[in-house]
Amino acid sequence: MTEIVVRPATLLDWEAIHPIFEQVVSEGETYAYPPSSTSDEARELWMERAPGLTVVAELHGAIVGTAKMGPNRPGHGDHIGTASFMVDRAARGAGIGRRLGEYVIDWHRRQGFEGIQFNAVVASNHAAVHLWTSLGFEIVGTVPGAFRSPRHGRVGLHVMFLPI
Ligand SMILES: CC(C)(COP(=O)(O)OP(=O)(O)OC[C@H]1O[C@@H](n2cnc3c(N)ncnc32)[C@H](O)[C@@H]1OP(=O)(O)O)[C@@H](O)C(=O)NCCC(=O)NCCS
Repeated sequence: MTEIVVRPATLLDWEAIHPIFEQVVSEGETYAYPPSSTSDEARELWMERAPGLTVVAELHGAIVGTAKMGPNRPGHGDHIGTASFMVDRAARGAGIGRRLGEYVIDWHRRQGFEGIQFNAVVASNHAAVHLWTSLGFEIVGTVPGAFRSPRHGRVGLHVMFLPI
């Protein structure tokens, strides 16, 4: 049985999270984060403060993935949450993303959110679309050509939603 542990991240974990963040951003296929941020800037973008949360996924004690979550909008929109996910390329396909997704859904339920909205799932990111769909998310709309994929050119961005 594979030992995947998901736990809240601390600032001490950033050293292990940052290479995963850099790898995913430099792949350029899944997130529209600024391509050349410093470690401090990336940490500000990724490490959530309450009421949000950043977690890490450990496999045999090594950090191989991370997710962040929190309210999608402030004020009158804060009953709907959102989240982002990154798994080390070398660890993909082993169930880490699914475990992070299940953790995120459970966290939103425990916090009393009424739904989870993913704002910008790149349409050519088949692993993510498959994973979120299998966890119950639906594509509620697609902004055509809103993402410039290095590999596929202009592709759509899905808004995906799960009522909880
Ligand atoms: C998306 C991501 C988080 C998934 O993490 P992961 O650890 O590889 O996910 P899992 O191993 O749990 O696999 C998830 C599912 O995707 C499937 N999958 C993997 N690659 C696939 C592909 N190219 N096409 C279709 N499905 C694919 C797996 O078979 C699995 O489905 P199953 O459980 O029904 O067999 C990871 O690929 C990643 O970090 N990508 C870069 C960043 C990113 O895309 N973040 C999400 C943005 S919305």
